[in-house]
Amino acid sequence: MTKALILSGGWGTRLRPLTCTIPKTLVPVGNKPVIERLMLLLKEAGVKEIVLAVSVMSEYLNNYFGNGEKLGLILHYTNEKSPMGTAGALKLAEKFLKDDNFFMINGDIIINFDFKKMLESHKRDEEIGLIASRIVEDPSRYGVLISDKNKKIEKFLEKENFNPSIYGKLEMPINAGIYILEPRIFQYIQANKKLSLERDIFPLLALEGKLSHYPIKGIWKDIGLPFQLLEGNILYMNDVIKKQNSEEKNIIDNTVQLDPSVKIKSSVMIGKNVKLGKDNIIGPNVIIGENVEIGNKCIIKDSLIYNNVLISDNTQISKAIIADHSIIHHNATLQGNKENIVIISSYVQINKNIKLISPPNRAISVCHNEIVKTDRI
Ligand code: GTP
Repeated sequence: MTKALILSGGWGTRLRPLTCTIPKTLVPVGNKPVIERLMLLLKEAGVKEIVLAVSVMSEYLNNYFGNGEKLGLILHYTNEKSPMGTAGALKLAEKFLKDDNFFMINGDIIINFDFKKMLESHKRDEEIGLIASRIVEDPSRYGVLISDKNKKIEKFLEKENFNPSIYGKLEMPINAGIYILEPRIFQYIQANKKLSLERDIFPLLALEGKLSHYPIKGIWKDIGLPFQLLEGNILYMNDVIKKQNSEEKNIIDNTVQLDPSVKIKSSVMIGKNVKLGKDNIIGPNVIIGENVEIGNKCIIKDSLIYNNVLISDNTQISKAIIADHSIIHHNATLQGNKENIVIISSYVQINKNIKLISPPNRAISVCHNEIVKTDRI
């Protein structure tokens, strides 16, 4: 097997306003698009050709990746006029994938596992699909896999059909959004129809006993919601730091200008051409992109700052994502909480002395190009 399909055409509604200006799969994880990280991982496992199933804002992906040459991959694009569902998208890629089994992956997950091992455990004659699974504490947000002791899937329950009173509140394997599929699957998908793999095709294949699951270890996070995107980035950064096998607990580019008075609390990742003024406290759990300037006496923790952001003096930021080209004027406070973070989209201006503080049950979002002149609490 040398091919893979990556789904990259959804609306990404839950990540708005971050996905108003870029497709969800281009949002950064450790300062690189989440989908690029997946492509590199597939390449490591021997995949040479990848089909990108694109739709919403497809031109952004086209412009960014082109024919794949820079990554050492061959890329093909299918283009749904509007999203055709996960199975509709797969059916459109049939001409590229009809000759051999292939990987199919949701383009919005953060992982670090070994695809080759998964391939070794696929029984190509018995299974049409092998689904990577993950045990989670709260399976109700995901597609749940009910299987026998040999991991053959007996039922495939999407979120809306999962009833915790029947299955208890136990930890259960869920669909991790990574599959090995045999080309026989194309016979089950009607052409030119909006269809979901998870809702329309997998439940059928499970009834026929043609699906198994494969528990994966290591990091796995889907970035459907803003707080998951933040958590996933931190998870990714800590994983990279752990694998460095050194005493160093941060990843700071050597072009970074760091005043000696700056206090860094691990873990922190800082990209190229970042300038940090005096008496800042940065970290823990902070990722800063490229060409960012931070004034003096700022406190930043548990946050992501994309490229080309300007943060003025005395600013306090925690549990926030600040997208590219935004400007935060002095004395601002941006404070989210665990599941309700503060989200600042691209080209935003936050005026001086402004407070953006998420209440316990609601995130605060600022849309691109907005100028914030009053507090939001
Ligand atoms: P939400 O609108 O927030 O639910 O996000 P989403 O539209 O991205 O949906 P979801 O999280 O279920 O998508 C998982 C993965 O499948 C993502 O990588 C999406 O880009 C992709 N995806 C979802 N629906 C479609 C579709 O209809 N066509 C294509 N090509 N990809 C899709």
